[in-house]
Amino acid sequence: MFSLFNSLWLLDAALWPPSLRRRFSQPGDWTRYASEVRGRTEQRIAAGERDHLAFYVLQSMEFTALKPVAPLPGASDVLVRGRVREFLKSRVLNEKMAWLKRLPGAAHEGLLWEACQSVIAATDPGRAGFYLQRGLSSDSELEAGFIVDLGLATARQLTPGAVARKVLIVGPGLDWAPRTGFADRPPQSHQPLAVLDSLVRHGWAKPGGVRLTALDVNPRVVQFIQRMSGEWRLAPRLADPDLTAYAADLGGRVGKRSGGVVRLDSWVRSAVQARLGNIVLSSPPEAFDMVVVTNMLLYFDALECELALHWLKRQANRGAWLIHNDTRPEVEAAARQTGWTPRFARRVPLQGGLEDSFSLLQA
Ligand SMILES: C[S@@+](CC[C@H](N)C(=O)[O-])C[C@H]1O[C@@H](n2cnc3c(N)ncnc32)[C@H](O)[C@@H]1O
Repeated sequence: MFSLFNSLWLLDAALWPPSLRRRFSQPGDWTRYASEVRGRTEQRIAAGERDHLAFYVLQSMEFTALKPVAPLPGASDVLVRGRVREFLKSRVLNEKMAWLKRLPGAAHEGLLWEACQSVIAATDPGRAGFYLQRGLSSDSELEAGFIVDLGLATARQLTPGAVARKVLIVGPGLDWAPRTGFADRPPQSHQPLAVLDSLVRHGWAKPGGVRLTALDVNPRVVQFIQRMSGEWRLAPRLADPDLTAYAADLGGRVGKRSGGVVRLDSWVRSAVQARLGNIVLSSPPEAFDMVVVTNMLLYFDALECELALHWLKRQANRGAWLIHNDTRPEVEAAARQTGWTPRFARRVPLQGGLEDSFSLLQA
């Protein structure tokens, strides 16, 4: 018998691209898949939080005078054990400690030790499929804004008169406790602020004339952005000259910058809203003219990428731009299948053999 849910689902599925209609030909196919994704995502968020806990225990100087341990093979067991014990004893209660101490395993020496050993053993981010299996990291560096800035500048040249009144970031992330480039500093979610700065810089928006929604599946990221302070601390990590020049020019369009601190203008906090959501399972809350998705799709397999691009396309205004930085062929295929038009792609070499990229899709 057909329930109301099934009928509504079938009506909705008629709007899906043929490849997804074939994969999910019955409502039950979708419900089973969605529940599997929900379960897997919960596990991956928990695994990602456990990794951040371990990176912090190994590298932070906020709770101990013992020297930091790089999460790499060969790390001294004695030092790791010492740091685990110091963390357990510590009474420091800053924002990070308060959150980390509440995580499962954070009060248990054996589990903390295992968490540290597990990140020490996970050595090769260059290995194919590494990101597909690992926990969901919330890391975000200031430098991620650089390629978005290049993307916005390029999209501007391709559509000189266009404006972006509604902007979406999927997976804005939080500079929190990274594996590499760890430094003790207060958490920051750079991307919403950096994107607003670049939008104004390239004439996509006027100060006060844009709304930005930051959608993330990790509640810690969402809560942080919802409580955004009036200060943005800019602490670049990488020494590349282009990145340095980008970072040196940041902030002036969203506030008053003095050294490495930007006092945000009042319009900025009201322009940004954070929402909890999983882009593999449903569309973003509102329509948008511009969406930024960096360093997130690489955690998704081909079907998850296709679903994410499908849900985004459903809320994309005509001519809306999507900026991402995942060069895998499956992302390109997913873009075409879901009706996005690839408009531009560029690799961006960085100092020290590093490389990033950006791709522009248009609705
Ligand atoms: C590695 S961070 C990247 C942060 C930032 N975009 C950057 O480029 O630095 C990936 C972010 O995507 C979020 N994320 C992962 N899967 C997601 C999903 N299915 N839906 C929404 N957000 C997701 C994570 O919680 C995390 O905050």
